[in-house]
Amino acid sequence: MRRMTVDSERGPYEVIAEAGAVTRLGAVVDEEGVERPRSVVSDTTVGPLWGEPAARSLGSVLIELDDGEVHKRWSSVENVLAHWLDGGLHRGDSVLAVGGGVITDTVGFAAAIFLRGVSWVAVPTTLLAMVDAAVGGKTGINLEQGKNLAGAFWPPRLVVIDVETLATLPERELRAGMAEVVKTAWIGDRELLKLIRLEWPADQSSQRAVAWEEIVMRCLTVKARVVSDDEREVGKRAALNLGHTLGHALEAATGYRHFLHGEAVAWGLLAAARLGRRHGLLGADGEGAIAAAVSALQPLPAIAGIDADAVRAHIGLDKKKDHAGVRWVLPTDDGVALDQRVPADEVVEVFRELKELSIS
Ligand SMILES: NC(=O)c1ccc[n+]([C@@H]2O[C@H](COP(=O)([O-])OP(=O)(O)OC[C@H]3O[C@@H](n4cnc5c(N)ncnc54)[C@H](O)[C@@H]3O)[C@@H](O)[C@H]2O)c1
Ligand SMILES: [Zn+2]
Repeated sequence: MRRMTVDSERGPYEVIAEAGAVTRLGAVVDEEGVERPRSVVSDTTVGPLWGEPAARSLGSVLIELDDGEVHKRWSSVENVLAHWLDGGLHRGDSVLAVGGGVITDTVGFAAAIFLRGVSWVAVPTTLLAMVDAAVGGKTGINLEQGKNLAGAFWPPRLVVIDVETLATLPERELRAGMAEVVKTAWIGDRELLKLIRLEWPADQSSQRAVAWEEIVMRCLTVKARVVSDDEREVGKRAALNLGHTLGHALEAATGYRHFLHGEAVAWGLLAAARLGRRHGLLGADGEGAIAAAVSALQPLPAIAGIDADAVRAHIGLDKKKDHAGVRWVLPTDDGVALDQRVPADEVVEVFRELKELSIS
């Protein structure tokens, strides 16, 4: 078992990683001195796999929301709040989310507003949720107008990571989550890149769980360091957006149907590495190291069919308003540089170069 403490403006909370923890959650929350969650919320895919054992162990009710990013919406929150009210939950009660980032974001947000806020426990079951979504305190939902437009800073009371849940995660999801690992490694833990090479493609040995825990906890150490410096994203937290400027634009330009988030970030990391090099921030070795780490995540959905003008538009660089360019986080030889202005034409040029690559 591994553990770490994450600071937040609402007080510190523990993140523990223990293989098999989902099936003994009752004991785990007791040991951690956390109120036993009275409601477990999952989605229709994760519910039967991991929600049920979690609820059984806690002796609590299981609620299953429809699976998918499109259900990270107000109606799901309303649904959860109604269940909690009908179940007689009080201000002092606690709830638990078991699932990927969609579930931790939605349930965390519901917890933030239910009776003006109840405490919640996060049990992330995707690699992306383990290394990113479940820790840091951001919760929220999408609105018709765009992603993550309603939300709250409402850190969990406890995060329980059980890497055994990754055994049922589709490999494509696992690879996409790995892009965030590569990103995190570049921001603050280069040793992690070696672990990725060691463990990827998936290693079947008995040491696998231990290796995954190591990867996840090292990522969280970096994220916690960045977030505790800047919980509300006024400055340094922006480092976590490495690879995300182009990543978000690719997702938006393809209607959120072509890429998993991490896959778009993988392309975004390649673009950032090229730009870092062009701007004299990153040497050839650095660019090569990022490219090698990303190419280990193949196959990635191709970008060949994506129109450069659509990317330009979604990056916020329409031709009229681009004077100084958009602000990027760019990789440097020993970390990242924030607030780097990149003109539209340069972004498009790099995007066209990437289209020529054989990765896909
Ligand atoms: N709050 C934050 O700081 C933060 C950070 C990053 C991402 N996010 C959010 O996270 C969301 C993406 O999260 P995600 O990538 O985990 O997607 P997701 O929650 O949609 O999960 C991906 C798919 O995997 C399934 N799944 C999850 N765990 C499984 C398991 N163990 N076995 C089998 N299937 C499993 C889910 O049912 C779903 O179909 C986005 O909405 C994003 O905005 C939030
Ligand atoms: Zn991301």
